[in-house]
Amino acid sequence: MITDDILYLGVNDREIDLFEGQYVVPNGISYNSYVILDDKIAVMDTVDERKKEDYLANLEKALGGKSPDYLVVSHVEPDHASSIDAFLQEYPDTQLVGNAKTFQMLALYFDRSFDNALIVKEGDTLSLGKHELHFIMTPMVHWPEVMFTYDSFSKVLFSADAFGKFGALDSEEDWTCEARRYYFNIVGKFGMPVQTVLKKAMALDIQIICPLHGPVLKENLSYYLDKYQIWSSYEPESEGVFIAYASLHGNTAGAAKQLGELLNAKGCPKVAIADLARDDMAEALEDAFRYGKIVLAASSYNGGVMPFMEDFLHHLKGKNYQKRTVALIENGSWAPSANKTMREILSQMKDIQILENCVTIKGAVKEEDIKGLEALAEALMQ
Ligand code: FEO
Repeated sequence: MITDDILYLGVNDREIDLFEGQYVVPNGISYNSYVILDDKIAVMDTVDERKKEDYLANLEKALGGKSPDYLVVSHVEPDHASSIDAFLQEYPDTQLVGNAKTFQMLALYFDRSFDNALIVKEGDTLSLGKHELHFIMTPMVHWPEVMFTYDSFSKVLFSADAFGKFGALDSEEDWTCEARRYYFNIVGKFGMPVQTVLKKAMALDIQIICPLHGPVLKENLSYYLDKYQIWSSYEPESEGVFIAYASLHGNTAGAAKQLGELLNAKGCPKVAIADLARDDMAEALEDAFRYGKIVLAASSYNGGVMPFMEDFLHHLKGKNYQKRTVALIENGSWAPSANKTMREILSQMKDIQILENCVTIKGAVKEEDIKGLEALAEALMQ
């Protein structure tokens, strides 16, 4: 129960192997849906059809024999909208509420028409009785049709994917880490639209945020809004250095770890390290955004850079990576080429400062290489 007359209908999915076909979710994920029980009854989104039976059972129980008047569709992505057909089979008289884009996009996913539609636009309202729903268009957070709904009676913001996180609701984990991984990997490219939405949200009196994934947020809302402010502005969140490495035979990995030790010895507030071949790429991307300084350490390969590093850099570029200080370490036994390739990809990003003290190792890490790493650590600490 969210309030006396707003109920949670969502489901946990712990069986999914990869969310959106690419993200590991060790603690699963929740698909959230809500119902507002008033003179008129509005359901806020459905869930992934993978869980439609559980969902429809939750809905039936919450409705207590009544039928919904409206189904508000905040987001057409299948993890929220693919049960709409099953929903309408059970409750065929329900009116779908969405914007013009919502219905254009539903047509891409369903080979049927949605004739009983209420098309809303920015600023439109819908009265359910006591509850009044205000529709706020939030395009590209993170799809073009996305909209928020603000219930001015209960002061609840239904925020689509925003403020969501990976992890089923019964998993014991902190919000921030999995919300950050979710944000940068799924919404990260769209910082500007998120900033626009935050301005709109600041104008509202919000007591509760109901996202489409993760827990309902009821307390200390400024914490979550502040995180979104930092993340969407691409500013570093934490002091420290993130070291990402891709190593063929362990020498580059050794150099990366040695640099980490040197930084720790110099009192660096935090050193995070990821092996791009073995660790979760989505978490590495999250850490690259979290810290203001990153080190990329890679073996040369095929006249370029080891593919895991190339892949990582393309992920960063795709997510609008910017405003960071970068240090480079390459290894190349007879023809080092990694730094040149990394520089080329970095040059396609905004506001990236590459430190001059780049290190080139040829084979094993030797005494003179340690001196280079020492100088690099010094430069990173400044
Ligand atoms: Fe949770 Fe963009 O779907």
